Amino acid sequence: MPSFRLAGGVMHAEAVPLTTIAEATGTPTYVYSAQTLRLSARRFRDALGGIPHKHLAFAVKANPNCAVLRVLAEEGYGADIVSGGELAAALDAGMNAHDIVFSGTGKTRRELQAALDAGVGQFNLELEAEGEMLAQLAAERGYCAPATLRVNPDVDAATHAKITTGRASSKFGIPINDAPTIYDRLATLPGLQLRGLAVHIGSQILDLAPLQAAYERVGALLAGLRKRGHVLTHVDLGGGLGVAYRKGQCDADIAAYGAMVAHVTKDWDVSLTFEPGRFIAAAAGILLTRVLWVKPGPAHPFVIVDAAMNDLMRPALYDAWHEFSAVRPNGSQMIADIVGPVCETGDTFARDRHIDQLSPGDLAFFHTVGAYGATMASTYNCRALAAEVLVDGDRFAVVADRLDQAAFARQHFAPWQRSGLSSAKMREEMED
Ligand code: LLP
Repeated sequence: MPSFRLAGGVMHAEAVPLTTIAEATGTPTYVYSAQTLRLSARRFRDALGGIPHKHLAFAVKANPNCAVLRVLAEEGYGADIVSGGELAAALDAGMNAHDIVFSGTGKTRRELQAALDAGVGQFNLELEAEGEMLAQLAAERGYCAPATLRVNPDVDAATHAKITTGRASSKFGIPINDAPTIYDRLATLPGLQLRGLAVHIGSQILDLAPLQAAYERVGALLAGLRKRGHVLTHVDLGGGLGVAYRKGQCDADIAAYGAMVAHVTKDWDVSLTFEPGRFIAAAAGILLTRVLWVKPGPAHPFVIVDAAMNDLMRPALYDAWHEFSAVRPNGSQMIADIVGPVCETGDTFARDRHIDQLSPGDLAFFHTVGAYGATMASTYNCRALAAEVLVDGDRFAVVADRLDQAAFARQHFAPWQRSGLSSAKMREEMED
């Protein structure tokens, strides 16, 4: 994390002390480093230097904050989206519709219409019926929708079971053996410009062998489809490269990835799309939190922080490891369970962890949460959605407000519940 470091005993995000951000915004707050975003975006692009025709589409699901997307748009990245909401996020951030790829297993008619109307650059089809619907909607508009067929290569990405997507048993893509006949059929539809293939086998992949195996299967399919007379000009190789979450771990070897892709695809003669999410954004974010209590436990204390599983789901959902440090480390260490205020045991960020010594009121932070952090937050326990801050050099700004009472701001009583209630909310409704 080059942009998060100690200076004068205080952790900084670039040139801004995290204490300053906590004073300005309160906690919990996600803090993103524009510099790290740029560095990762460039590192990814540079590793693919040997690929002549390529398109880089940031996976918006990893971090849809408009300020983050803007930094990446300025780096020349387009977007990989999976919903109408993500379409709006990418367009609002200033991304060109033409540079947007629409992935996702369950696109609705409305979402397809919106994407067609916006002029999205590529649709990655997940099933034959979706291709038929898209063709019909495009033809109605006198348009030919650029599309690829996402195939399921039946390769195990050897990552966490909940984020592996390339096995035959997973819901994603068209079984690779069925692809030729489905491709034949969809290629005849007037509203579709079927121009290639897409693949994505999972996320947090550190071992390149499964990616290579998947790409080789796609290469064989590409050759087979050309023999059947199809013209293929585009292949989307998805995302999935993993990052280091624990001290001593390494990011996926991006140079080796670039070399592997160049080697496997050297005779493909297509334009390649890449959809990195985590690799670009993970290390660019931390979650700033304050210690509420240190409570004695049977073996060691519970450090109760003001961030909870609703703010950062990954430990509860995937048993994910996020390093945790004090903002002002005093040199001493303790062993603790790090937990949040939510009322379930799943609200545990770490067990038996060696961490900096912390007392109530101290600031601390979780590392490597710029991807799949804020975007997966909920309002469980009627908690607020955390604020988000972007730092760039010595400047910082709130780029997402803390949303208090988000859980019930949109709720209403049913009309028949109006009488006999005297809550403040009911009074408000009666006054309206
Ligand atoms: N393209 C497609 C079609 C995807 O489904 C995904 C991620 C990506 C690209 C980006 O993958 P990345 O480069 O970030 O690995 N919430 C989970 C991760 C879910 C990933 C879903 N798909 C987590 O926190 O680990």
